[in-house]
Amino acid sequence: MGVKKHPTYKTMEPIYEGKAKRLFTTDDPNVLRMEYKDSATAFNGVKKEDFENKGRFNKAITLIIYRMLESKGVKTHLVDDVDDINLLVKKVSIMPLEVIVRNVAAGSFSKRMGVTEGTAFKKPIVEFSYKDDSLGDPFINDDYAREMGAASEEECAYIKSVALLINETLKEFFLTANLRLIDFKIEFGRLAEDPSVIVLADEISPDTCRLWDVTTGKKMDKDRFRQGLGGFMEAYDEVLSRLQK
Ligand code: TMP
Ligand code: ASP
Repeated sequence: MGVKKHPTYKTMEPIYEGKAKRLFTTDDPNVLRMEYKDSATAFNGVKKEDFENKGRFNKAITLIIYRMLESKGVKTHLVDDVDDINLLVKKVSIMPLEVIVRNVAAGSFSKRMGVTEGTAFKKPIVEFSYKDDSLGDPFINDDYAREMGAASEEECAYIKSVALLINETLKEFFLTANLRLIDFKIEFGRLAEDPSVIVLADEISPDTCRLWDVTTGKKMDKDRFRQGLGGFMEAYDEVLSRLQK
């Protein structure tokens, strides 16, 4: 793709700030610096708190996972590591879809369907939400995605197949760290330099996955914050050190 590995930081301008990350330009128009913040939010930003090292843990975990996925042939926005809390990523236009894959009932599935948390599915479930905080990220299907201009039918089918491949790869990877992948959310983007190319973008971390310890069933993800269970950063620290082994 011919991207420069270490663009000059002097030219960096902030261009976007989300709940957990900030984006800055670099002197390569197709590359951005993504900074992971220490803030945690839940329930569409209603619950919010800063946690020391959170950005560092999520950046490091995302980097390990993205490199692993790239090695399995998944196309991602990752360009390079920068430092403790920053990655260089390809500039993309994020598709307004949250793609959720579920292996085991939990969270909004259990609430919506009245199915006990922990019930394993026969096959993974893939679902889409329309990414719009003001609407509360509503649950949608492929037809909604097409009519909202989020993704064509072919693109939805492609995204679904990539999401299922990522699920199989991640399930196996987390098992080597004695973690059970319950569910996760991913996002995709169109490359700025070629919008016909769709790549995995955003983070994959305990903020965006549910991970339960295989042996004890202990929650090792953002549910510790959502549900006020305590030991939030200790769990992220533990996930990172298990993945580094
Ligand atoms: P849910 O059960 O609340 O719908 O969440 C499913 C998965 O998606 C879970 O692993 C947490 C993740 N998720 C996010 O990453 N961001 C969000 O805004 C929400 C609601 C869930
Ligand atoms: N990410 C969402 C928020 O910040 C919700 C969640 O992850 O529970 O509010």
